[in-house]
Amino acid sequence: MSALFKPSANFIARFSLVAVASVLGGGLLGLWGYFRTPYAQGLQEEIVQPVLFDHRHHVVDDLIDCRYCHFNVERGASAGVPSTEMCLNCHSQIWNKSPKLEPVRRSYFTGAPIEWNRVHQLPDFTYFNHSIHVGKGIGCATCHGRVDEMAAITKVASLQMSWCLACHRNPAPNLRPKDQITSMTWQPPADPAAAQLLASDLMKSYDVNSRVSCTTCHR
Ligand code: HEC
Ligand code: HEC
Ligand code: HEC
Ligand code: HEC
Ligand code: HEC
Repeated sequence: MSALFKPSANFIARFSLVAVASVLGGGLLGLWGYFRTPYAQGLQEEIVQPVLFDHRHHVVDDLIDCRYCHFNVERGASAGVPSTEMCLNCHSQIWNKSPKLEPVRRSYFTGAPIEWNRVHQLPDFTYFNHSIHVGKGIGCATCHGRVDEMAAITKVASLQMSWCLACHRNPAPNLRPKDQITSMTWQPPADPAAAQLLASDLMKSYDVNSRVSCTTCHR
């Protein structure tokens, strides 16, 4: 039998094992790399919505506060998306002939809600809450970017655990006065000393703590 496997076969067998392992490994590494890219995280990806709702018309031009439509953002876990009735508060009067608003009128007359597609969606095993963030001085723009400049909403942050944790470890530089929560243009003071003073002031007055224990977000 020994003639069947020459001593060199041993080497070939080992070599091919290593080769297979590194191809698999390379593949996994490639996949891992892929999931870290902006593409896989869905950043800048435009999601087609049933109505061509444009935040630029509603936020900049007309200065409608985010909270008029996302009415639950200070009160509960989710921000909420407005109902058809709320659209018609304005659109029964203005642009009421616009073909772009046809799906809104159809929804109103049939009673079937508009089925908006989610842009931001955390996995089920994580817990997130808007009201605590907004109530402790984290602005919409910090997590959602310049919504007032987006024709269609895209994600600007990965929403990965490492992103949450980076801020939870050191929230101070991300805090702003609560009356600026929905401002799209607020900036911390340009002078570093002044910025630091404001940050430590807000840490104290809003009683902000670093929260990194697993049960904060996995419960
Ligand atoms: C006139 C109502 C209205 C106003 C004002 C408004 N929004 Fe929206 N928003 C919507 C609607 C409708 C959607 C769902 C369709 C979409 O994603 O564009 C939405 C979606 C979003 C989403 C994406 C939700 C998801 O699926 O993940 C974010 C983030 C958001 N809005 C943030 C804001 C911020 C920040 C402001 C203030 C600067 C604001 N919105 C002002 C109506 C509004
Ligand atoms: C600390 C980061 C953070 C801040 C600040 C924040 N959001 Fe969000 N937002 C998220 C995350 C994360 C999700 C996805 C939540 C999920 O899947 O459960 C989300 C989802 C949403 C949605 C989709 C519907 C929902 O509630 O899940 C809307 C609308 C929205 N945010 C609007 C706002 C507005 C308006 C503000 C400011 C008043 C704001 N957000 C502030 C992180 C944030
Ligand atoms: C507070 C008033 C107000 C509310 C509420 C409102 N809109 Fe508007 N919307 C406007 C105004 C004003 C314009 C015109 C903006 C412009 O042309 O600059 C507009 C424009 C539009 C347009 C573009 C129409 C066209 O023919 O170009 C669409 C689509 C639209 N809105 C959808 C919605 C939807 C969907 C909702 C509910 C989620 C909604 N709007 C809620 C005030 C409102
Ligand atoms: C830009 C900063 C920032 C980001 C990003 C952020 N958080 Fe927070 N988060 C805070 C602050 C500040 C608090 C309040 C901490 C305190 O004082 O208790 C908080 C509190 C929380 C709480 C505690 C709520 C409660 O009721 O106990 C949860 C849960 C939470 N965050 C989840 C998340 C998740 C999940 C993400 C990522 C998807 C995230 N946060 C991203 C700043 C942030
Ligand atoms: C500030 C919020 C936050 C804290 C604190 C946190 N996580 Fe997470 N975790 C998340 C979010 C959001 C996701 C989903 C997104 C992702 O997969 O990155 C996640 C995903 C995970 C996953 C799924 C694997 C993965 O990478 O997709 C595991 C396992 C996990 N967390 C374990 C932990 C452990 C263990 C701790 C404590 C050391 C912890 N987490 C603390 C927010 C948090």
